[in-house]
Amino acid sequence: MTTSQQPRAQWLGRWGFLLAATGSAVGLGNIWKFPYITGEFGGGAFVLVYLVCIFAVGVPVMMTEISLGRRGRGSPVDAIRRVIHESGRGSLWSLLGWMGMLCGFMVLSFYVVVAGWSFSYLWKMLSGGITGSSVDDMVAVFSANNQSPLNLGFWSTLVTLATMFIVGKGVQKGIEKSVGWMMPGLVLMLLLLIIYGAFSGGFGEAVHFLFAFDAGSLSSAGMLAALGHAFFTLSLASGAILTYGSYLPSSASIGRTAIGVAIADTVVALMAGLAIFPAIFANGMDPGEGPGLIFMSLPLAFQSMPLGTLFGVLFFAMLSMAALTSSISMIEATLSWLCDNKGLSRPQAAWGAGIVLWLVSTLAMLSFNVGADWTLFGKNFFDWLDYLTSRLMMPLGGLGMVVLAGFVLKGEIFRKELALSPLMHAVWLFMVRYVSPLGILVVFIDALGLYQVSFAAHWPWLLAILVAMVVAGELSSPRLARTLR
Ligand code: PHE
Repeated sequence: MTTSQQPRAQWLGRWGFLLAATGSAVGLGNIWKFPYITGEFGGGAFVLVYLVCIFAVGVPVMMTEISLGRRGRGSPVDAIRRVIHESGRGSLWSLLGWMGMLCGFMVLSFYVVVAGWSFSYLWKMLSGGITGSSVDDMVAVFSANNQSPLNLGFWSTLVTLATMFIVGKGVQKGIEKSVGWMMPGLVLMLLLLIIYGAFSGGFGEAVHFLFAFDAGSLSSAGMLAALGHAFFTLSLASGAILTYGSYLPSSASIGRTAIGVAIADTVVALMAGLAIFPAIFANGMDPGEGPGLIFMSLPLAFQSMPLGTLFGVLFFAMLSMAALTSSISMIEATLSWLCDNKGLSRPQAAWGAGIVLWLVSTLAMLSFNVGADWTLFGKNFFDWLDYLTSRLMMPLGGLGMVVLAGFVLKGEIFRKELALSPLMHAVWLFMVRYVSPLGILVVFIDALGLYQVSFAAHWPWLLAILVAMVVAGELSSPRLARTLR
C-alpha cells in the first residue's frame, strides 16, 4: 500500500503532537463560530449541552481517532484499512476513512474564506484602522469587503498559499516548527485581550449570557448544532486528528493527550466568548448577528477604547494564527495519502492539493458576492459546505468511528494503544459503545424532525434505552465485563 520507502515521520519533540493537535482544535471554530452560534441559540443552555458533548462524546472519539492513526500509521484511508484488515473485517469500513479525508478538504474550502476575512481585517487595522461610528457603518465595511471577488479572492488565496507552504515543508520542518511558535504567541495574545476586555464594560452581561442556564431557550436545532460544533472544534471525523495521531510515538499517553487538547480548546472558546461579548453588549449589538459577528462588533468596540487599534491588530493577528494552525491540519490527511499512495514528494502533493483546493474555495468565496444567489434549498455553496460537514458528515463519521472501535475492531488494538487502567478502559468503552452512539442518534432523530426529544421530559426513557443497549451489547459481545474482570 505504501509506495514510498521512507519510514513514516514522527513528531520530533515531546510537545509536538500536543501543540499541533491543540493548534488544530483551536481555530476559527473557537473564536469566530462558537460566539456566534452561542448567540444564535440563546447562550447558557447551549453552552451546557456543548460541554456535555465535548466531554461525553468528543473526548472518547478523539481517543479513538488517535489510536486508529497510531495503530494504522497512515492517512485515514490507509490507517483504517490496515486496522480493519488486522481485525479480519470487511473493507466497506474504509469508506469511513474516505469520508473523513473528504470532510477535512471540504471544511478547508470554506475555512480559507473566513480566514481570509481575518487576514484582511488585520491588514485594515494595520493600515489606518477601520472608521465608522455605528453598527450600520460596520456592516457596510464588512459587505464592501465581500463585494469584490478580486479582493476577497486575494485574501483566501493568500491563506491557501500560506497553508500549502507550511505543509509542503513536511511534518517536522513545516507543521511542528510553525505551531511551536504560533501556539505560545496565540495564548499570550488572548490573555492580553481578556485583560483588556475585562475593563471594557459589558463584562457582567457577557458572563450572564454565557453561563446563565435557561432550558427553555434551547431548541433541537441548537442541540444538533452543539454536537456538530463539538466535533468541529475538536477537529474530529475530518482526518486531522487521526493523521496527526499517525505521527505519534508509541510511548505517548493517548488519553491524557486527548483530555489536554479538549480542555485547552474549551478554555480558549470560553475565553474568546469573554473577550468578545463584552464589546457586543457594551455597544448594544445583537449577539445573534450571525457569521459576521466578530467582524462587525469588534472593530466598532475597539474604536471607542483606549489603544483600540493596537488591540484590534492583536486580535486579528491572533485570529489569523489560530486559523493557520487549523488549516494546515485539515489538508494533512490528503497530503499524507498523496505521498503514501501516489509517490509524490511533500511539495508536489501540497501544490497539487492546493490547486484543487483553490478552485473549490473560490466557489465558496463567490457565495459572498456574484454567487450569492446560486442557492439550492435556500443555501448557497458556502452554507452547504458548512452544513454538510459540521451537521452531517462529522456526526455520522463520529458515529461510524465509535461503532467501529466499540464493536467491529479487535478490542486488543485499543487495549494496547490506549494502555489505560481496567477501570478507565471500561469508562472509555462504555462511552464509545453506548453513550456516544445513543447521543448522536438522539440528536439526529431530533434534527431530522422525526421526533422531538426533550432530555428533561424523556430522561427515564433514554436511560431505559441505554440500559437495554448495554444488556444487548454485552450479551452479544461481552467486552465491558471482560475489561473489568
Ligand atoms: N477545530 C478547528 C476550529 O475550531 C476546525 C477544524 C475542523 C480543524 C476540522 C481541523 C479539522 O477552528
